[in-house]
Amino acid sequence: MKVPYFVPSVDENDLASVQRVMNSGWLTTGLEVKNFEAAFSDYIGSKFCIAVNSATAALHLSVLASNIKAGDSVLVPTMTFASTAEVLYYCGVKPILVDCNLKDLTLDLTDAERKLQSAQKEGAHVTGIMPVHYAGKMVDMDIVEDFADRHHLEIIEDAAHCMNSQYFSKKYDQWLNKSKKSLTQCYSFYCNKCITTCGEGGMICTDSEEIAHTTKSLSLHGLSTDAWNRFSSKGNSFYDISQNGYKYNLTDVAASMGCSQLKKAELLKNKRAKAVNLYRELLQKHPFIHLLDDDPERFKSSHHLLVIRYEQPDTLHPSRDQLLQALKECEITPSVHWKPLHLHSFYKKQGFESEDFPNATRAFEEIISLPLFPDITEEQIVYVVNTLNKLLHVEKKF
Ligand SMILES: Cc1ncc(COP(=O)(O)O)c(C=O)c1O
Repeated sequence: MKVPYFVPSVDENDLASVQRVMNSGWLTTGLEVKNFEAAFSDYIGSKFCIAVNSATAALHLSVLASNIKAGDSVLVPTMTFASTAEVLYYCGVKPILVDCNLKDLTLDLTDAERKLQSAQKEGAHVTGIMPVHYAGKMVDMDIVEDFADRHHLEIIEDAAHCMNSQYFSKKYDQWLNKSKKSLTQCYSFYCNKCITTCGEGGMICTDSEEIAHTTKSLSLHGLSTDAWNRFSSKGNSFYDISQNGYKYNLTDVAASMGCSQLKKAELLKNKRAKAVNLYRELLQKHPFIHLLDDDPERFKSSHHLLVIRYEQPDTLHPSRDQLLQALKECEITPSVHWKPLHLHSFYKKQGFESEDFPNATRAFEEIISLPLFPDITEEQIVYVVNTLNKLLHVEKKF
């Protein structure tokens, strides 16, 4: 049996939407993007949504539109994808990497406090924090909000994994899918995310009209009006370049798939949830495999990734890297999210050292992301678990 890491769920409706736009005579940013932004705004419950061509672009524009300025420093988890910190360098801002906790691999705020104090002692002007909601489970934003208030930090949420996740806020006594205090939430529609817009795409969500206006204009060269408006019968044919911007707009072709995928976002999530529940049931009492803490009383996950920690018991058992390779040889494709930033050569050159991130360094040696996608079958999941057991010399068979 073959178990790929991910298979996108693209159905007839998605294809029909794309084809309709391909035949319409208008391919780039236009009405479809406006419709997608409006539908996403309803789904997320955000006043303004600005569609862009990646979450990386969304994060970059959020930093540019914020009060974070060149020369400042911003707290970022080391356990994240390249984008979260790289956009800070685009803006001349220095990332301060922060360790994760071991229970769910999200930002450790005790370490954030330590790192912030030590950076400030060295004269850093720390003005922001970028929590990353990991694998589908959100960071407890109550704690982040208090931390940010105490230190006067701007919050930008990297919500690439989490378009349908929630946390229970004790502070506001309600389930929330975003902090009430963050400047923006940045979502990804990359091919394996909760929904996709033809493989690449992103969204900036904000309740601030000013941030919406600035990021919208920055996403298209800083122009005062887009092509759709210029070419419409009542539109002005001229534009003004009001600020130096970027080419980050989403196409109508991509947005049409976004509209179609958004309609089944809950269905896709429920299918992933079913798969995760089965994995968790089969792996829950495993001697060497630990599941991350899901804490369902306080968190509803989007189930974007299924990350396990494998603790090699002794050298008679495979190492994590050997296990990854052995799974591939059994036609199961795993992944790793992530090698933390501080272990990459670029970040080592910036002076980050392993011993300052003991949890993330240890987690990296143990984590494996198992195949997960909406249409994964029960048989495939059982095959993955049985194969893991066989490779780890565990008797249990399902
Ligand atoms: C946590 C996180 N942030 C940002 C990104 C970047 O998303 P995109 O590929 O849409 O730029 C990713 C992509 O995988 C991610 O995992």
